[in-house]
Amino acid sequence: MTATITSIAHYLPPDVYPNSYFEKYLDTSDEWIMARTGIAERRFIKDGATSDMIVPAARQCLEKRGLEPKDIDCIIVATVTPDHMFPSTACVVQNKIGAMNAWGFDLSAACSGFLFALVTASSLVESGTVKNVLLCGADKMSSILNFDDRAQAVLFGDGAGAVLIEKSKDKEYGIIDHILHIDGVGGPFLHQTAGGSYKPASIETVNNKEHYIYQDGQAVFKAAVVGMADVSLEIMQKNNLNAEDVAWLVPHQANLRIIAATANRMGLDKDKVMINIDKYGNTTAGTIPICLSEWLDMGKIHKGDRLVLSSFGAGYTWGAVYLRWGMNK
Ligand code: COA
Repeated sequence: MTATITSIAHYLPPDVYPNSYFEKYLDTSDEWIMARTGIAERRFIKDGATSDMIVPAARQCLEKRGLEPKDIDCIIVATVTPDHMFPSTACVVQNKIGAMNAWGFDLSAACSGFLFALVTASSLVESGTVKNVLLCGADKMSSILNFDDRAQAVLFGDGAGAVLIEKSKDKEYGIIDHILHIDGVGGPFLHQTAGGSYKPASIETVNNKEHYIYQDGQAVFKAAVVGMADVSLEIMQKNNLNAEDVAWLVPHQANLRIIAATANRMGLDKDKVMINIDKYGNTTAGTIPICLSEWLDMGKIHKGDRLVLSSFGAGYTWGAVYLRWGMNK
């Protein structure tokens, strides 16, 4: 028995910030940002928290499937920008949409959050523990971005995706295989220094800007290029897939050069790679479900398509999921 995605939707804040927004006050240029990252613009939410982006996506996801919030058994929110340290954003979302019969929790795996949560949700469904999971991948990266640091301000955006995971009627379709990894040696290169129990918030941590993202871009880049490409090739080999078999690579959208290296390693042409980093930047746990939702809306994913989803992020966390698309549209 396999678990499968039976509905999907996304939400992006309406306010668009093109590269020219940063050119006005940072020593940067549209040319540099496009050439080094592939990003042209991103969205930032003006008012509201991560849950405020999840709620419209979740409501639409349920509506498309013809389910009511009370029909949901479990809510998982993958995020590194929860509304609060506690309670979980899953609890906030549960209350806002009125999913009175659901339990749930948040999952923290940064840019790999959606993939880790997808595997977790599938296991819960496959084991019969729950009949469905509303899985949300969302981040309000603008809440932890240092807008005065050109090396990070331009990279990220805000956004949310929501998918419904249920039993697959046909075991040929659904989430077939996964390879997931963590390696804590990556911690020093990408993290939020303060605000947790290690360094609680204080006037000093605020003055030192320790609540923003800390990133050694080059170190992360080198690890991501190798990690994402290796794991994507590995899942193909493990499942006897060649490039012709794969309909789409659905990569985490952190940097166009990392995506290109991954596609190249898999032997895939550019036209088989979902890319929307130009429009939204890196929305962390949001990138993969937003891609899937947009491509489905455009009618570019078909029943039976073989998809490889892959990611790399803070932790380090990385992995790949092989799934066979089971929805008709
Ligand atoms: N505009 C102009 N110059 C910039 C800049 C910007 N927005 N950001 C950085 N630079 C400068 C740097 O200051 C540096 O200048 P210096 O040589 O005078 O010190 C120069 O560009 C090169 O910096 P470098 O870090 O080597 O650039 P890069 O080619 O590695 O690109 C990143 C920087 C951040 C785009 C890239 O390292 C990256 O994408 N890393 C991975 C990020 C990631 O994936 N994070 C999320 C988790 S997966």
